[in-house]
Amino acid sequence: MRAVILSGGKATRLRPLTCNTSKVMIPVLNRPFLQHLVWYLKRHNIVDITLATGKIPDEVESYFGDGSRFDATIEYSTESVPLGTAGAVKNAERFLDRPFVVFNGDVFTDIDLTAMMDVHQRRGAIATLALTPVDDPTAYGVVETDDEGRVTRFLEKPSRDEVTSNLINAGIYILRPDILNYIPPNAFVMFERDVFPSVLEAGETMCAYPSDDYWTDIGTPERYLRLNHDLLGRDIGPRGLKFEGRHDIHPSAQVEGPVLIGKGCRVASNCTIEGPTVLGQGCQIREGAVIQSSLLWQDCEIGRGARLRDSILASSCYVGGESLLDSCVLGDNVRIGSGNQLPQGAKIWPGKSIPRGTISF
Ligand code: GTP
Repeated sequence: MRAVILSGGKATRLRPLTCNTSKVMIPVLNRPFLQHLVWYLKRHNIVDITLATGKIPDEVESYFGDGSRFDATIEYSTESVPLGTAGAVKNAERFLDRPFVVFNGDVFTDIDLTAMMDVHQRRGAIATLALTPVDDPTAYGVVETDDEGRVTRFLEKPSRDEVTSNLINAGIYILRPDILNYIPPNAFVMFERDVFPSVLEAGETMCAYPSDDYWTDIGTPERYLRLNHDLLGRDIGPRGLKFEGRHDIHPSAQVEGPVLIGKGCRVASNCTIEGPTVLGQGCQIREGAVIQSSLLWQDCEIGRGARLRDSILASSCYVGGESLLDSCVLGDNVRIGSGNQLPQGAKIWPGKSIPRGTISF
């Protein structure tokens, strides 16, 4: 089976992290998100992958290339203008002559794709949709089913009194190639809004594959941070420490897991690094700094006595001494001068520089 990974969206909600970096390349436990997806697909014996995207981001091409480094085959299907989730799949039609799986390129899951494929084959449906339960389905596409697991209705972002089920579209579909007949070429078409409802109306059978297995998307900074936290807990254990290469941690520094420390990081005396936290490659943490539940991409520098909590810093950020960041998101190359206290939840765009001692909340 082939997988089509959709990765041509604008990723606006993840800005400023995605101002310079494609959503599939943002690091999760110091590896590009797409690498986790490739590993997952391989666990289900899927090694033929089509990446449906706009222009191929340079960093994707140089890291993944033709996929051989990951024992997979990666092909690229590009769009000169965004064609929507279904339009992008139609655009990749030349790769699709057998049943295939479509994956939203921002979904991380343990859903048993092998079992889902069995259900798809047994039921002979034109489409089998993975469904996942959420507490509040009003921000998602709700999918209603009958007692035999057939899809009966789609409700996009229902209001509270319209909600009849907490099962939402998980962004993973197994499709028969003849579904492509329902998608016009070279047009902006969405599966959820345009294709699936008309397939149902035409009397085709669509099946649901509900699952309680871990599922999240990394569509927002909060969910992206939470995925890193969840994976730290389960990959290196609730109190675990993992070092990816040479590092220099001063003996007086306190490191409380789960913490992942990238190659070449330096943590100076009297620092506290409290998990769940990830330090990307080459980060420098100066004397007495405190980092709690945060995610730093590579080459960040945190000054003396600065404090970070629940924050995400993209590559090469500098936070000056004694500055305070709580639930902040910084794009690449942001410089926060010393002695600043950013407002909680602040988002700072790449390259911005805040002079010392100018912000205090
Ligand atoms: P937001 O701008 O924050 O909503 O993010 P997004 O653009 O990624 O949109 P959304 O989360 O709804 O998209 C779900 C998945 O479909 C993501 O992996 C997107 O990259 C992908 N996607 C959305 N629109 C397109 C498109 O027009 N073409 C392709 N190839 N993929 C798309």
